[in-house]
Amino acid sequence: MKILVLGATGFIGGTVLAAVVEANEQELAGATVTALVRRQSSETDAARETKLRSRFGFESTSKTAGKAVKKSFNIEFFAGLEAIDELEEIVRSYDIVINTADACDDLPAIQAILRGLGARAISNRFDGSVTVPVLIHCSGTGVIMDSALGEPDVDGKTIYADDDIAKITAIPPTNIHRDVDLIVAGAESSFRIKTVTFVPPLVYGLGRGLFKRHSGQIPGLIRNCLANGQAEFIGKGLSKWSNVHVVDLAQAFLHILCRVICDPDSVDNGYYFAESGELSWKEMAQGVADAAAKNAPVNLKSKIAVSLQLETDAKIRFPNELARHFYSSNSRSRAVKIRKLGWTPSVGNEIPLSEDLEREIQYQIDLIGSSN
Ligand SMILES: NC(=O)c1ccc[n+]([C@@H]2O[C@H](COP(=O)([O-])OP(=O)(O)OC[C@H]3O[C@@H](n4cnc5c(N)ncnc54)[C@H](OP(=O)(O)O)[C@@H]3O)[C@@H](O)[C@H]2O)c1
Repeated sequence: MKILVLGATGFIGGTVLAAVVEANEQELAGATVTALVRRQSSETDAARETKLRSRFGFESTSKTAGKAVKKSFNIEFFAGLEAIDELEEIVRSYDIVINTADACDDLPAIQAILRGLGARAISNRFDGSVTVPVLIHCSGTGVIMDSALGEPDVDGKTIYADDDIAKITAIPPTNIHRDVDLIVAGAESSFRIKTVTFVPPLVYGLGRGLFKRHSGQIPGLIRNCLANGQAEFIGKGLSKWSNVHVVDLAQAFLHILCRVICDPDSVDNGYYFAESGELSWKEMAQGVADAAAKNAPVNLKSKIAVSLQLETDAKIRFPNELARHFYSSNSRSRAVKIRKLGWTPSVGNEIPLSEDLEREIQYQIDLIGSSN
């Protein structure tokens, strides 16, 4: 079984790579896991390769119920997602691609991956193999966010459960990420491959990869607080986002990976959410303010999170309209399907987002300090 991981130097992908290479699951015995890494300068490439190899080696053996689970680890370099011919060529020699690269809106790159897996499916059939190539694709719950600008969802209309097929199917094709997601789901019939789409909400926590270990949304809220001396939210701040700890998310990827290997029919080509909690933007901002107040170097003008006026302050702080929505919408997902398959968000239950903020603040303060 040859598994290719795209985005392995990233926050989510690095954590997924670690989960897969270090897994004890018997389904992965004998697998080769390859990280496909974007080429940069020769020094950066050499440094990345050394780091990855010293963590994962060439071969790793873990044990489950006394049985050895032997896997091999490899690295391939490529020019990047823009080099679609090279990408397609690389992908066609793999059985399973896990795409966690920053590609939820990159249609040409996704089409190249699908063509590569489609070519693999054809050559498998020529060789008499029944193996069906698989794409496990990472999208995001931006696809279900509204434009509430801080207004609450009073009747739960913005909640999407992934087993509510009618509601998921009705998501407009014009929503962010949706064009790519529809192509990925449709590839099951057009390319005769298997596809799974993971749709993470706001992801938090310290990644287990070797390079980018921090997420985007919460660090953005924190940097804003550190720069302006107050934690802020847009409008009433009552709209909510679901969240998941990155380690739980990586376990969800691993869970699905093992499922598609041992029982592919139990996994469908619809959306798979993964979440363990939900907070409003006001609650997240107040959590940042509380964590900042406990941290000695932070001088706060206000210990109470402050509302940004929609038509003035919010536009100044977030000039980009899409970014404004990412910090003021409802994006409420319910991961029913993967829970039914046996996944539980254990880290998120121990360290919910509200309790992870002090750690992230400390990191962001150190980062600012080291860049001064
Ligand atoms: N973090 C979240 O809260 C969250 C939530 C939902 C969905 N998502 C989605 O999940 C995906 C991964 O997110 P992340 O937070 O892990 O991002 P990240 O830490 O920025 O990692 C992005 C990864 O993609 C690679 N990449 C970016 N552009 C590339 C290109 N042109 N060619 C080749 N590789 C490229 C990066 O490689 P280099 O190291 O070479 O730059 C890195 O490995 C994104 O599509 C994101 O939108 C994230």
